[in-house]
Amino acid sequence: MSNRGSVGPVSSQDLFEQARTSLAGGVSHQGRYAPPHPKYVSRAKGSRKWEIDGTEYIDYAMGSASLLLGHAHPEIVEAITRQAADGTFFADCHPLEVEWALLIQELIPSAERVRFVGSGTEATLLAIRIGRANSGRPKVLRFEGHYHGWHDYAALGMNAPYDTMPTLGMLPAAAEATVVVPPDAERVEHALAADRDIGTIICEVSGANYGCVPLPSGFLATLRNLADQFDATLIFDEVITGFRWSPGGLQARDGIFPDITTMAKIVTGGMPGGAVAGRESIMRLLDPAVETQGFKPGVVHKGTFNGNPLVAAAGVAALREVKTGKPNAAADKAALRLRDGMGKIMQEHQVDGAVYGESSTFHLYFGKGAHGKVEGLSAAEIRGVSSETVNAMRSGLRRRGVDLMSHMSGVTSAAHTDDDIDQTLDAFEATLRDMLEAGLVGRA
Ligand SMILES: Cc1ncc(COP(=O)(O)O)c(C=O)c1O
Repeated sequence: MSNRGSVGPVSSQDLFEQARTSLAGGVSHQGRYAPPHPKYVSRAKGSRKWEIDGTEYIDYAMGSASLLLGHAHPEIVEAITRQAADGTFFADCHPLEVEWALLIQELIPSAERVRFVGSGTEATLLAIRIGRANSGRPKVLRFEGHYHGWHDYAALGMNAPYDTMPTLGMLPAAAEATVVVPPDAERVEHALAADRDIGTIICEVSGANYGCVPLPSGFLATLRNLADQFDATLIFDEVITGFRWSPGGLQARDGIFPDITTMAKIVTGGMPGGAVAGRESIMRLLDPAVETQGFKPGVVHKGTFNGNPLVAAAGVAALREVKTGKPNAAADKAALRLRDGMGKIMQEHQVDGAVYGESSTFHLYFGKGAHGKVEGLSAAEIRGVSSETVNAMRSGLRRRGVDLMSHMSGVTSAAHTDDDIDQTLDAFEATLRDMLEAGLVGRA
């Protein structure tokens, strides 16, 4: 059957069948594959999105956590529309990229200089190259289960088993240049002392997968000290936490500063792109007018769409809103109400598990010994919830019009209302009852 040029079907199931004949695997991101078929969304506004058959969802994926202001925020729509009429791309420098960088500098304390990139994956790719150039040492230390994008230099360690290459086609040398440890200060110190080739450290500062596996308390301050002690370049991956944990990210909230910060998602107002920022003395490596050890610039970095005006317009509009502090306060309040409500429902039904998360995020855990919190549980335990349980929670909520982001987790936005949260709590309670009946969650 040739479907070229026409998209006729009106159900997600039909459209997926058609998509499988044109898109590799039927999808554009393997995470969107959701058997028996993914949902096809045609419209979104505020906290809601609509599937092509009209089904409405309260959205807790929010553009993979990029839409702190909500879907189709009027200021962002207006900025993109205005810029589109003035030209979508010049392949030249332009005023908006300067305004955008100034806003980042203003908000992110360690951002002395900024370079725009094409995605979060590109941000960590560039940051790691800068880390190697700055330290003069080839190896990168990273943490079990932390996600930094899909390129080779961030691949080893993204999933368990952490010492095994997670994909075909990966360069073995990239795995050999990566040292994966659990987020444990003693293990980090030991690794840095044992292998003087390690010159760069990268960390998802929320803990793995936007805080699904939280970091031990005080860990980031210790990491900063260890990086200094061993003269390693410290990268904070703030792709999720940047502009979410606070308007200035985790670093502004906690007062712990990296050498380099990676950003994407909120920084672009939910458009494709990202940014790398850091100390001037390090970011100078990217300066085409500066020669370093015979290289000018020291670190090569290109990219056709870096700092694209359409994306810059959205980024500027988003960061101007973030600067007021209001979107963060609203999104945090919604998530707190949600976590509190879910916690009470779990207690009422004496369910063995926990709901937790920082800022505008929430994570669910079901299993023995949690007693309402995951501190004290191992990463393996937190990640050990059966796929049956996870799928039952995700599909139960989805049937009731609630869409999570990944696993049993999600994010709120400034657009989530008390009504959204109350409806979500009703859906959660009904789903939990079904799961108790089916024996998919246990009683405390
Ligand atoms: C912490 C973190 N770093 C990097 C990335 C990669 O970003 P992108 O998907 O834009 O390539 C992600 C994506 O979710 C992320 O969560």
